[in-house]
Parts: sequence; C-alpha cells; structure tokens
Amino acid sequence: MLRLNDIHQTFHTGEINEVRALRGIDLELLPGQLVTVIGSNGAGKSTLFNAIAGVFAPSQGQIVIDGVDVTTWSEHRRAALIGRVFQDPLLGTAASMTIAQNLTLASLRSQRLGWRTGVTPTRRQEFHDLLAPLGLGLETRLDSRVSLLSGGQRQALTLVMATLANPKIVLLDEHTAALDPATAARILTLTSQFIEHQQLTTLMITHNMQQALANGDRTLMMDGGRIVLDISGAERQQMTVQGLIDRFSQVRHSALVEDELLLAS
Ligand SMILES: Nc1ncnc2c1ncn2[C@@H]1O[C@H](COP(=O)(O)OP(=O)(O)OP(=O)(O)O)[C@@H](O)[C@H]1O
Ligand SMILES: [Mg+2]
Repeated sequence: MLRLNDIHQTFHTGEINEVRALRGIDLELLPGQLVTVIGSNGAGKSTLFNAIAGVFAPSQGQIVIDGVDVTTWSEHRRAALIGRVFQDPLLGTAASMTIAQNLTLASLRSQRLGWRTGVTPTRRQEFHDLLAPLGLGLETRLDSRVSLLSGGQRQALTLVMATLANPKIVLLDEHTAALDPATAARILTLTSQFIEHQQLTTLMITHNMQQALANGDRTLMMDGGRIVLDISGAERQQMTVQGLIDRFSQVRHSALVEDELLLAS
C-alpha cells in the first residue's frame, strides 16, 4: 500500500545549518496495517509524514502509494490519497465553516466535484449517521461553526473527515497529545474503530510508548533520520516499555560511538 525507497531529506543543503532530517528510509506498509512510530524530538517523524504527504519533494528516493509512483506529485494531488490529523486540533478543520460544510468538503476531496454541490439533505442524513456513534452530540450541531467546538470535539471531527474519503494512507501525528487524558483515550478508541472498520493503512506517531505497543500491529522507532527499530509479531508482543527504552539507549550509544569514530578518523 505504501512503499518508501531510500528516502533522504536534507534542509538547507550546503549551508552551515544543514539538517539531514531523513537519511535513507526504506519502508513497506501492507494494506490495513496500523503502524505506530516513536522516537525522540527531532528524530524525523513529522518530516517523514511531510515527505509522504508531498509537502516537499524528497532530496532523494521514491514514494509509491497503492502501486503508483507519486514522488513528483504535488501535495494537493496526493490529498485524495492521504488523510492526515495533526497534534493541533485547530489545523484539521475550517473554523468559520459549519460541521456540515466541513464534512461536505471532506467527502468531495476524493471526487473532485467542487463545492457547488453543497450540503444536500441526503448528505445531512449521512453526516448525522456518521457522527452519532461518536457519542459527542455533534450530529445535533451540524449547522454550528467548528470554532465553537472543544479541542476534543474538533479532533474527533478531523478524524472523521480524514477517513471519510477512504484514503489509501492515514497519517496521525501525535493527534491525541493536546487533549486531556480522558478525551485522548476516547479519540484513540475512535481511531482504532475507524481504522479497523475501514481497513485503513495507517501510520501513527506517539510519544507514549505504552500506547505505541498497545495499538496496531507493528512499531517503528526513529532516530537521527533513520528507522532504528522495526518490530512486529511475537517480538513486539513480548516487548515492554522498559525494553523499548533499553533498545533506544543502545541505539543512541552506538550512534555516539560512530560519531566519535568519525571525528577521530
Ligand atoms: N522545513 C524545515 N526546514 C528546516 N529544518 C526542518 C524542517 N522540518 C524539519 N526540520 C528539521 O528536521 C529535523 C527533524 O524534525 P521533525 O519535525 O521531523 O522531528 P520529529 O521527529 O517530528 O520531532 P518531534 O517529536 O519534536 O515532533 C529537526 O532537526 C528539524 O529542525
Ligand atoms: Mg513531529
């Protein structure tokens, strides 16, 4: 469903502040797979998502989604294939538009019909049925502006919008981090339900290692622009948070030794 071949991303190439944010990422995701991604600040997690979403063309490498090479596609063109939820609840929805208008836009994303079709009565019924199971009462507020919603309500709506058009890939970038613990847990449950129900291929970044091991079927750890751990199956089932921390320390230590060797040579 998603294949990344040797992706590199360097910012400010050749300048004093050059950053090699991605350094050779190879990854293949199977359809319907939920993969959690962990790694310290600056490891390259969000940059990886930006590369997949087409925010920039990678400095090197190839991106294939559902068998199609999209490496040179613009972010706009890739939007029909990708659903994305960010950490900030303000980013995923248009604040000055109503819930129904936001959902209409999201449902049109993959069809490219244009805005003129508007919020039809059939769509209103569909939106009602879509929102009612969330248990947040959003189905009774279809004509409320999104700016009136709480962060958790807004993030739930963003999740619905991101998955509505049956995207090939869903990218969740710490999408529960800005919410209170109870709401975060609720949004995470909803996430699992959406993914399972629609068999969505998903990458989910989280700083919560427990969450990373408890959700989905595979976990990646990134460090210094590389994937340094890729676990699934029995290895992952036996993995503990302490185990992850130990692996991370080992990786960090060998990276330091490598740097020292490089400096010494
Ligand atoms: N547009 C950009 N221009 C220059 N440098 C960038 C850009 N985007 C990311 N970087 C740099 O690339 C590196 C990786 O950043 P990235 O945002 O991918 O990290 P992250 O793993 O998502 O970290 P966090 O957990 O803090 O969100 C950082 O050093 C960052 O400063
Ligand atoms: Mg990030």
